[in-house]
Amino acid sequence: MQAFAAESYEIEQFRQAAERNRQARYSAEWLKSVQYPITGFLYALIVALLLLMGSWQIAEENLTGAEFGSYIAAALMLIDPVNHVIINYGQFKEGEASLDRIFELLALQPEILERPNAKKLPAVAGEVEYCNVSFSYRADQSVLQGLSLKVMPGEAIALVGASGAGKTTLVNLLPRFYEPQTGKILIDGHDIQSVTLQSLRQQIGIVPQENILFTGTIAQNIAFGRSQFDLEAVQAAAKVANAHGFISQFPQGYHTWVGERGVNLSGGQRQRIAIARAVLLDPKILILDEATSALDSESEALVQEALERLMRDRTVFIIAHRLATVRNADRILVLEQGRVVEQGTHAELLAKGDRYAHVYAQQFHSGL
Ligand SMILES: Nc1ncnc2c1ncn2[C@@H]1O[C@H](COP(=O)(O)OP(=O)(O)OP(=O)(O)O)[C@@H](O)[C@H]1O
Ligand SMILES: [Mg+2]
Repeated sequence: MQAFAAESYEIEQFRQAAERNRQARYSAEWLKSVQYPITGFLYALIVALLLLMGSWQIAEENLTGAEFGSYIAAALMLIDPVNHVIINYGQFKEGEASLDRIFELLALQPEILERPNAKKLPAVAGEVEYCNVSFSYRADQSVLQGLSLKVMPGEAIALVGASGAGKTTLVNLLPRFYEPQTGKILIDGHDIQSVTLQSLRQQIGIVPQENILFTGTIAQNIAFGRSQFDLEAVQAAAKVANAHGFISQFPQGYHTWVGERGVNLSGGQRQRIAIARAVLLDPKILILDEATSALDSESEALVQEALERLMRDRTVFIIAHRLATVRNADRILVLEQGRVVEQGTHAELLAKGDRYAHVYAQQFHSGL
């Protein structure tokens, strides 16, 4: 399973571009690594040849020793400029490749467009309603089929169902990573297609399944793209997310570099950074894609506690993989082929002894 965020179209494009960039950099590095031995060898060969030819010409008395000396000196003076030309050419090629990729990215057309008269979504209470929503990625399949669902502000909904049932798709429609073909989605009664993307996405926090860290400091990662932030607010969020402890243990604390060439963080630590990010954003609506990878039990407890704090007083959609989560949810929705086939609390659904009881026995029972 992929990270939730990576499943969005735009981020996937960036991921692919980054991969191409990485490959181009590899080939440039490779070029550099062979450049020096090869040019070095050629110089040595040329100098040896010159000496050979020179001594032959001197022996033939076509050349005096002094003439040959100045000839060699002149030839040696050429080496540096030639070397520079080769190096500059390599750098030019590298730059050209990067420029191509920049233009490629700039040329991407977003699939989701704002209406010209889009309004700003006012601060919401967090009521979410799906009205007869159908969605498919391709014409020949249907992922969500006439789905209707009303979630009250502050309600925690756990989504369960087999792989491919449409759980991720359902939540991806809310920040408008994709657009439903029919039906509509309302937040506090506002059709999400009639509001600006920024005002919509600002009010939805996402904690993805596999957390992506950006190259930068831990503080920047928690503040997520904001160029100006208050370090105290970042620390307060990290405390709520049970992340302050491990961050403070790094010699550089919140200024520790992560991502490429930064420190390595464990799965549980990354998750707590993602939780801190959501705490700082403080959205009324939250999407959680629970990690399937097992954490060690100490980390698991810290993450669970942080999640419970984060979920308080928010409307939450949580794609649940753990028993503790489904048990705590206000309502569990069982998805099957893009339809809600059952809903209720854990106790209600177990008592019913139907599909949830079946899924429960298969997926969660081992976690008891
Ligand atoms: N980006 C995509 N393009 C095309 N088809 C997709 C895409 N994402 C998902 N699908 C398909 O849509 C269906 C529902 O997928 P979805 O990711 O919503 O399932 P899920 O319930 O989240 O599954 P999982 O538990 O494995 O994460 C699947 O058949 C899947 O193959
Ligand atoms: Mg999924």
